[in-house]
Amino acid sequence: MTMPFHVEAFLDNDSETFTYVVHDIETREAAVIDPVLDFDYKSGRTSSHSAQQIADYIDAEQLSVQWVLETHAHADHLSAAPFFKQRYAAKIGIGEHITEVQKTFKTLFNLEKAFLPNGAQFDRLFKDDDQLTLGNLTFRVVHTPGHTPADLAYVLNEQAVFVGDTMFMPDVGTARCDFPGGSAGQLYDSIQKLLSLPDSTDIYICHDYPPKGRQHECKTTVKAQRENNIHVKQEITRDQFISMRESRDATLDMPRLILPAIQLNIRAGDLPPADDNGTRYLKIPINAL
Ligand SMILES: [Fe+2]
Repeated sequence: MTMPFHVEAFLDNDSETFTYVVHDIETREAAVIDPVLDFDYKSGRTSSHSAQQIADYIDAEQLSVQWVLETHAHADHLSAAPFFKQRYAAKIGIGEHITEVQKTFKTLFNLEKAFLPNGAQFDRLFKDDDQLTLGNLTFRVVHTPGHTPADLAYVLNEQAVFVGDTMFMPDVGTARCDFPGGSAGQLYDSIQKLLSLPDSTDIYICHDYPPKGRQHECKTTVKAQRENNIHVKQEITRDQFISMRESRDATLDMPRLILPAIQLNIRAGDLPPADDNGTRYLKIPINAL
């Protein structure tokens, strides 16, 4: 089937995240999904080098970026949403339950009073089943809690879906559920919603952690996931999934960038306000996580 859209994938090797640029072939309106801001933890320096490479593609293709779509508040990389918002006057969208994530981390990081956990840092908060138009294309939002309370998947024209941190490639499995507000049972239920899409629906994943000998891949299908996903193929029951997921999560380290990433990502990618010396700081809570 010919698609009226084009999807270009960009891999961030540091966090193994895929950023997607989706555009309507006829109108050239575009959306950027889950863009990454480079961050060197050792020096505390951010860089928009990777975002600039994506912008070079956008400009060469003469695309008009309307939206930056976040699937959730990522814990493994900083969002480059403000780079695209400023450069293209694009709007930033995320799930309405980001407010729960903001409340949790406002408390943990003891953020300034002026930071309101009401989602106002974003331009639009999506509810389950909301629709978003991009040129002649339509994105339908599916709320997919489990990894975090605010996760979303974006279904494009009922032909493709950007699943965020729910399922990974079939040989890798599923996303962890041990962050605040996460739930293995909810993730299972969210994944069933995605697996009820037609067999031929293309699935674009948020990360790939390929086993030895396989290159990074970003695209699979509903049929391939239902038949082969090592964590959620059809013969695996909800109870089996929950016990597998919870015991596996108990063995996982925190992501390397969780502390800096969350502090930016709950602000739609903005840095915290500067101290009275003009420098911006990120916090490390000691023995609190
Ligand atoms: Fe994530």
